[in-house]
Amino acid sequence: MSRSPDAQRMEKIVSLCKRRGFVFQSSEIYGGLNGCWDYGPLGVELKRNLKNYWWHVMVHERDDVVGMDGSILMNRAVWKASGHEDTFSDPMVDCRSCKARLRADQVIERKGVRQCPNCGGKDLTEPRPFNLMFKTYVGATEGESSVTYLRPETAQSIFVQFKNVLEVSRKKLPFGIAQIGKAFRNEINPRNFTFRSREFEQMELEYFCRAEEGMKLLDYWLEERLKFYQNIGISREKLHARTVPDEERAFYSKGTYDIEYDFPFGWQELEGVAYRTDYDLSQHQNASGKSLEYFDEETKQRFVPHVVEPSAGVDRTVLALICEAYSEDEAPDEKGEMETRLVLRFHPRMAPIKCGVFPLLKNKEPLVAKAKEIIDLLRPHLTVFYDESGAIGRRYRRQDEIGTPFGVTVDFETLGEKDAALCDTVTLRERDSMKQERVAINDLAAILASRIS
Ligand code: GAP
Repeated sequence: MSRSPDAQRMEKIVSLCKRRGFVFQSSEIYGGLNGCWDYGPLGVELKRNLKNYWWHVMVHERDDVVGMDGSILMNRAVWKASGHEDTFSDPMVDCRSCKARLRADQVIERKGVRQCPNCGGKDLTEPRPFNLMFKTYVGATEGESSVTYLRPETAQSIFVQFKNVLEVSRKKLPFGIAQIGKAFRNEINPRNFTFRSREFEQMELEYFCRAEEGMKLLDYWLEERLKFYQNIGISREKLHARTVPDEERAFYSKGTYDIEYDFPFGWQELEGVAYRTDYDLSQHQNASGKSLEYFDEETKQRFVPHVVEPSAGVDRTVLALICEAYSEDEAPDEKGEMETRLVLRFHPRMAPIKCGVFPLLKNKEPLVAKAKEIIDLLRPHLTVFYDESGAIGRRYRRQDEIGTPFGVTVDFETLGEKDAALCDTVTLRERDSMKQERVAINDLAAILASRIS
């Protein structure tokens, strides 16, 4: 059976990710570990650019948000109070024929009969809850008293540190606490490449407010987050804000949106924006016996703040960036014949490498020396890559394929051999349009900085 164009596109993306060093299978030489991934040299740069930009927009650019970095292991009591120990589960079904373990929503139903999507078998167990938290033991004894879990979300450390952060930051409501960090879920069926993983990163903001501000702030944060995605190069047409209906929403939430992206495997959630009322802080206040109240100096009232939470996945957003950027077009080869060009059209802000620098010929010492001077000039300001091997067109293609937005070529004109007026100028090529312009080396850093930000 032939694969659909979307499935073929996804296969090409996965293969490019491995071939060019964005993402590798974890523990690959031992056969891998399902649901775990390693980011290679380019993937880690892309991921860092995303996290740094999120932090910049959500923390540094705002007066009403501060950051924190909590531990992954926490007291088990946190997970009891938050409800995760009792209810953080997916319904699981076993196929008695092929022994597959399935999430209940993956079971297919034909003419009212439930079937295994793997083998077509009809002998399936009834759904039962499967807790998604990874259990572990703290210290040398492996008993009930030493049990805890790898955190399944970063949010809880923000809630339990609410009072400490409030005191040291001296913020007034509404204000937020932001965190980026690892989270772990023992997903029954990890799938769609990095989309559903067992180890992943989240970028979460808990924005504390008064009850009467909750619904308004929910809409405010939805708009802010949609803007964020557009500012990292995701087109508005590929984003969708889904209003989560009452029956799907957590009982304590008064409103939730899912921001979805049009992946090659369908519309899927990138981020949840939820108005969680005062549920989390109240749960921890009741369970710990410690006050998590806010004192309003103007009204002299004491109350538990409400919270609006935009919670985004780093890995899902990286995958969306790659899917969005992936494109094929036509460009002339060395002989002027058209060939397929594979290009990642990353927003320059997100691109792992911002500029390639190429001496026209590698065996002409003055060209090489000048190119290396340019590398030294640009390196303090942006990520650069030096490449002297192969025809210049090939070198451009290699950079196109990893999404480098700019290329600088040092040629004989740079050396002033043809026209003294062109001495110390270079060719600056733009990835998407492939247009070239002549610019002075002295202006390069400023021109590139203005086009990247
Ligand atoms: N604190 C709220 C919370 O954790 P969530 O909707 O369960 O909410 C938030 O997770 C985001 O974390 C998701 O929108 C998604 O981007 C990311 N995420 C959740 N589970 C994931 C998984 N198994 N693999 C990759 N990303 C995941």
